[in-house]
Amino acid sequence: MDKEKTSSAMPREKWSGKLAVIMAAAGSAIGLGNIWMFPWRMGTYGGSAFLLIYVLIVALIGIVALMGELALGRRFGKGPIGALDGILRQKKSALGKWIALFPVLTTFAVTVFYMVVVGWIMHYFVAAFRGFAGLDLGTYFNTFAGTSNAVPWHVLAVIITAAITYLGVKKGLEPANKILLPALFVLLVVLMIRAITLPGAIGGINFMFKPNFAALSDPLTWFNALAQALFSLSLLGSTLVIYGSYLPKDTDIPSAAWYTALFDTAAAILAALIVFPAAFAFGVNVNSGIPLLFITLPGLFAQMPAGILFGALFFLLVVFAAITSAISLFESAIEPLMDALKWGRTKATLVTSAAALLAGLPLALRMDWFTYWMRLTSAVLMPIGTLIIMIMIFWVYGAENMRREVNHGAVVSMGAWWGFLGKYVAVIGTLFILVAGTLRFTGLWR
Ligand code: PHE
Repeated sequence: MDKEKTSSAMPREKWSGKLAVIMAAAGSAIGLGNIWMFPWRMGTYGGSAFLLIYVLIVALIGIVALMGELALGRRFGKGPIGALDGILRQKKSALGKWIALFPVLTTFAVTVFYMVVVGWIMHYFVAAFRGFAGLDLGTYFNTFAGTSNAVPWHVLAVIITAAITYLGVKKGLEPANKILLPALFVLLVVLMIRAITLPGAIGGINFMFKPNFAALSDPLTWFNALAQALFSLSLLGSTLVIYGSYLPKDTDIPSAAWYTALFDTAAAILAALIVFPAAFAFGVNVNSGIPLLFITLPGLFAQMPAGILFGALFFLLVVFAAITSAISLFESAIEPLMDALKWGRTKATLVTSAAALLAGLPLALRMDWFTYWMRLTSAVLMPIGTLIIMIMIFWVYGAENMRREVNHGAVVSMGAWWGFLGKYVAVIGTLFILVAGTLRFTGLWR
């Protein structure tokens, strides 16, 4: 049994075992960010240059920030509200709770558009049984997404996520993650082999790996790779702090962070290795943006033996990957509601789900609203939440203090460089997204 007690009467639920920790963090990280968003962003913003910068950012900022957020949660045994309150009380300030509202709300802004895309994926899962042969995939996407046809799927996505979340931390997450994530990887490898052996696939390989120096020096590539890394690793300032609060004191945080980043990046690159070769083989424009996944992969299934089976299996496993991320997004609002307002889990889950459902409706209905909200969130809101949590961890609580927490239970201890990367590289990187994103969103930067 864990001896740690939190301030509430009930001991906090804890993850059991080291594998469970990695699975939970990876379950949150691996989702639509990897399968749907990574390929479309990479296709639109710099191709091989994006990939290179992305990997660099994950290595220099992502892993350090993952450790920081997990350690913050574990240190205070609380999510963002309790943790920031804890930090600022040491400095005799009562503002922590209020500051924590930013990461909590900005994470919720992500939840709102995320659930709409989970709905799209669920629809494609069902559609996969009929097969995609003979369909004009562009038209098919456009007559579904952004119309009233997408609404029931959005509702279903929220209900399923709410139901699983309601079951609580251990019962809901662990068994699902342990089986389905490995299954997803196996399927991604199979599909990759099919995609790279298509005639014309070499164009996609070149697009991914042939150096593109012009894009390397384009700030837009950097901006998008940075924003994508924060999104994909779930580094928005609420989720991983909460997951950290569920960790026993002796968890090896550096190794959990390293594996999470590794698996998350592998999933994104595998998805790209399917999407780009297939897009080149079928003549789909890699610049297609949001629909890219949906107008490329069905073509692959239509072309392969047992394509209906592979198509259905793919969308099913992506639904599961998306739901484990969606659960972590819901948890990012539920825990703060329970902590700040002393609500029970049932009430907090109901309110979070209802809010995600209602706020997502307009986005399910209209593509221009969806795009607007997604851009506002990724360019402006999301970096605000991340920046605040980074400053709190590395400057206010202090990089050296947090490094001690990170190293507690670690097999390989982090040196002083850890604090340097957090204090300067992570904070300046996040600030860059916020400034560049705001300029871009307001149209000042074209
Ligand atoms: N990282 C998840 C994905 O890639 C999305 C997510 C972001 C989940 C932030 C939780 C918090 O799909």
